[in-house]
Amino acid sequence: MLSVTTVKALVLAGGYATRLRPLSCTRPKLLFPVAGKPILEWTMEKLSRNSFDEAIIAVNYMADAIKNHFGDEFRGVKIRYSDEPKPLGTGGPIKNAEQLLNTGETFLTMNGDILSDIDIGQMVGSHRKNKPVATIAVRPVKDPSRFGVVEIDERMQIKRFVEKPNRRESQSNLINAGLYLMEPQIFDYIPSGRKVVIEREVFPNLAKQGKLSAFKIGGTWFDVGKIEDYRAANSAMLDVVCRTGAKIEKSVRKGSGVVVSSPSFIGRDSVIGSDSIVGPYVSVGEAVAIGEGSRIVDSIVFDHVTIGKSSLVQGAILGEETRVGANAIIGAGSIVGSHAAIHDNVKLSRNVAVCPYKEVEESILQPAYVM
Ligand code: GTP
Repeated sequence: MLSVTTVKALVLAGGYATRLRPLSCTRPKLLFPVAGKPILEWTMEKLSRNSFDEAIIAVNYMADAIKNHFGDEFRGVKIRYSDEPKPLGTGGPIKNAEQLLNTGETFLTMNGDILSDIDIGQMVGSHRKNKPVATIAVRPVKDPSRFGVVEIDERMQIKRFVEKPNRRESQSNLINAGLYLMEPQIFDYIPSGRKVVIEREVFPNLAKQGKLSAFKIGGTWFDVGKIEDYRAANSAMLDVVCRTGAKIEKSVRKGSGVVVSSPSFIGRDSVIGSDSIVGPYVSVGEAVAIGEGSRIVDSIVFDHVTIGKSSLVQGAILGEETRVGANAIIGAGSIVGSHAAIHDNVKLSRNVAVCPYKEVEESILQPAYVM
């Protein structure tokens, strides 16, 4: 297998993540925890395992939060940041990072919100064999009608893209998986200084010229776009990290009679009160306090959250530093923005989204967006 050591990576990390509001109002998506670590850390670990020596992170929205988290190195991978004066979409950031990337070598570009077990070495091998300007990782989906599909020939050359096709329009069920290997010639195809949607403005041109290849992937792949995707990615990665049982950091303190059902992750310095039940499919961040007799199921709890006694959190997400009182119920699909407070005895029945810093003093028994 070919080595990937000469490949630099560009990670797109600057989106507003509008579909993940209110959680993304105070935290960039790529720092959302998935099974105990931020989304971007999963990616950086992959780059480190594959011996990449440099990652360029293209930042815009909440850039400082990302820079402060990662600094200039992650497990042997040097990190540089490509700042954007304004959002440049999925293609503009590549052109914007031209100076940092253009060393005359192949580089990997990826959407930072993707979790996958793609074999980068094999993809590099396929790219070097086919010699296109870019190779796109593609994956099959059951129902392609919600996506744009990629049509390929027997030599893995991409022929055309079809937006949200019905069966008559395209037989292909392959979609763009958000990871690309690129040659420096790609810079000639991307306009500079403005937002560019690479899937619409760059790839179709390359396909017409026969300069675009596909590499098929299977296995684990999540694109954390919507809340449902985020929850699904968290559950799948919990299955991965909890192969031998629930993962509980050493500094966690548990009262008597606590049950933590696998798969679940409990972050360091968290405290779980007596007789509480946590899990299955729960991710708890750092320094979270769960009161006695509470129950947390199928939920994501960010760092520094406090949950009172005898409360139930089921199928919900609690942003960082939220406070949930005693005897409260946070129901399925509900999302509590960071620093918000849900008072004692309050019930959020289902699909209630609470904005950051909001105090909720009365129950809300139907889906609502609480500002
Ligand atoms: P939505 O607003 O919910 O669509 O989310 P998003 O802003 O993350 O957009 P999308 O899911 O399409 O983004 C895919 C990847 O590209 C994510 O990793 C984003 O962070 C990144 N991305 C999107 N827009 C930009 C941008 O303008 N600049 C940079 N640097 N990255 C971007």
